[in-house]
Amino acid sequence: MTRTYFLALETSCDETAAAVFTDELDVLANVVASQTELHARFGGVVPEVAARAHLQQLLPVIDEALRTAGVRLDQIGGIAVHNTPGLVGALLVGVSAAKMLALALEVPLLAVNHIEAHIYACRLAAGRDIFPCVGLVVSGGHTTLFHCRSALQFERLGATRDDAAGEAFDKVASLLGLGFPGGPAVEREAAGGNPGAHRFPRALLHDERLDFSFSGLKTAVLYALAGANVAKASPPPPGQQRADLAASFQQAVVDVLVAKSRQALRRTGLKHLAVGGGVVANGCLRAALESMTKTEGAELFIPPLKLCTDNAAMAAVAVEKWRRQEWASLDLDAIATVG
Ligand code: KG4
Ligand code: ZN
Repeated sequence: MTRTYFLALETSCDETAAAVFTDELDVLANVVASQTELHARFGGVVPEVAARAHLQQLLPVIDEALRTAGVRLDQIGGIAVHNTPGLVGALLVGVSAAKMLALALEVPLLAVNHIEAHIYACRLAAGRDIFPCVGLVVSGGHTTLFHCRSALQFERLGATRDDAAGEAFDKVASLLGLGFPGGPAVEREAAGGNPGAHRFPRALLHDERLDFSFSGLKTAVLYALAGANVAKASPPPPGQQRADLAASFQQAVVDVLVAKSRQALRRTGLKHLAVGGGVVANGCLRAALESMTKTEGAELFIPPLKLCTDNAAMAAVAVEKWRRQEWASLDLDAIATVG
């Protein structure tokens, strides 16, 4: 049987990525060029810098993906691209390249929602069907719970009303003088701290809705750090105080994410929880989700790290669209926000 090869592109934020996979969901290449170092000195992702870096990196990244996969461009049977959500200037680089390739190769163009693709990463890693499931996406830009009826049918159960969980990690890291990206730095710092040292707020924990809010938590860390003198707040020196703040903050985020995921499982009656996004790299969160799903008699799907953080292989959900001939037209737009 002949296989169909797909080339997928991801440029929604600060990773330039290309992947090659087949209609059987075999991932032959998954190349990611990170821009983290470029943005670190600004303490966050600068949209114009990201878009320019995508322009410089995308073609070499595509070349590397094809070379790694051992597939020529003229063997590609479909082009997939994340066209929403993300930074619009960054998304446009991938979307324009994908359209150009689809036009030149005369193959279908497949538009993929980046958030839904984070959940599909669990399907890819599991190697078997995981739907229907509760999906939790926790990244720098999103904290959203879904009822995923199938790979292409997502119903939003709740989302953050302000900061995303990863954004809260990044902002607290900055308050504590831990640098960017904040998540891994806070986790390292928290390892030496006492998670019970500060009783930080767990917003909306007892609210029936499945929404999140993390901005008050960030402010609580600021007050714990500076007291009433917030205008003059400065990062604490390395030591127990800093470690305790990091550990207590991390525990508050984890408690809320786990409690809301449990609520979503109970409400939907589903027994599968699929989790994606960069924050899932957090060991404390992974362990707490594992223990919660075990108690609930549910199965937890967490992809390996390379598939958790932004990548193009997760765009393999495009294969499902391709089978249904749900092809995008060449006037496909890059859309910054989720509708
Ligand atoms: O999914 P992702 O790679 O990019 C998008 O935002 O789409 O997620 C990046 C986010 C950043 O906010 C980063 O601080 C957070 O994931 N992150 C972590 C950890 N590693 C990355 N947060 C907590 N603990 C970690 N170990
Ligand atoms: Zn992402």
